[in-house]
Amino acid sequence: MRIILSIFFFITCMWSKNIVYSDEVVSLYLSQDDTKVVGRLLPTNSFEILKEQGNKVYVKIQGFVNPKAPFVIYYNNTQRIIVAAFSKNTKLNFSKKDMTKDDKWDRVSLEIWAEKKKFFKNDKEMLSRAKELFVNNCGICHALHKEKEFNANAWPAVFRSMVDRTAIEKKDHWLVIEYLQKNSKDFKAN
Ligand code: HEC
Repeated sequence: MRIILSIFFFITCMWSKNIVYSDEVVSLYLSQDDTKVVGRLLPTNSFEILKEQGNKVYVKIQGFVNPKAPFVIYYNNTQRIIVAAFSKNTKLNFSKKDMTKDDKWDRVSLEIWAEKKKFFKNDKEMLSRAKELFVNNCGICHALHKEKEFNANAWPAVFRSMVDRTAIEKKDHWLVIEYLQKNSKDFKAN
């Protein structure tokens, strides 16, 4: 019985993907020994770890790319919710996926090197921390402007115009922006 269980466990491990999340911005590199940062992966977006080497991990990122400006991977196919952003003219090897009828942008995946950080198996705790930061900091001077008051595309600018008046640390800015966009009035799941 124990042998059967260990075989079962072994097979499950081999087949299950190592999907993780970061609660901070993660630097991206074109090769394992590069020091030049070519892009950033933003918090609360899931990605797959394919392998680890030294201080880096090789990851697979999925999302949508506007073919007219292929330096940003978005969370869904219409809203400017950023999963990863790259410096212009970086040579990126996107694998295109089959598009569905209503995809406005290309559905892609990208394999790339990332700095190794503390990653998390799910986004629950980081999202509740983001909500706490928002509620505790943004309702001090005026009533809280709720998540649903603005559209996904509007939140980044609204947040940035106010964040310097709060105690929200720089490392948490993108965490709160992503939280607000993903809970906004017109948020569309991917
Ligand atoms: C230190 C006080 C203070 C804090 C903290 C603060 N605000 Fe404000 N907020 C203001 C004031 C004052 C205004 C009025 C317009 C102005 O001064 O820009 C305002 C206006 C606004 C408006 C209305 C803008 C418009 O054009 O209608 C929104 C939305 C808003 N704040 C969101 C936020 C969010 C989100 C946060 C947290 C990141 C936040 N505020 C934190 C003081 C604050």
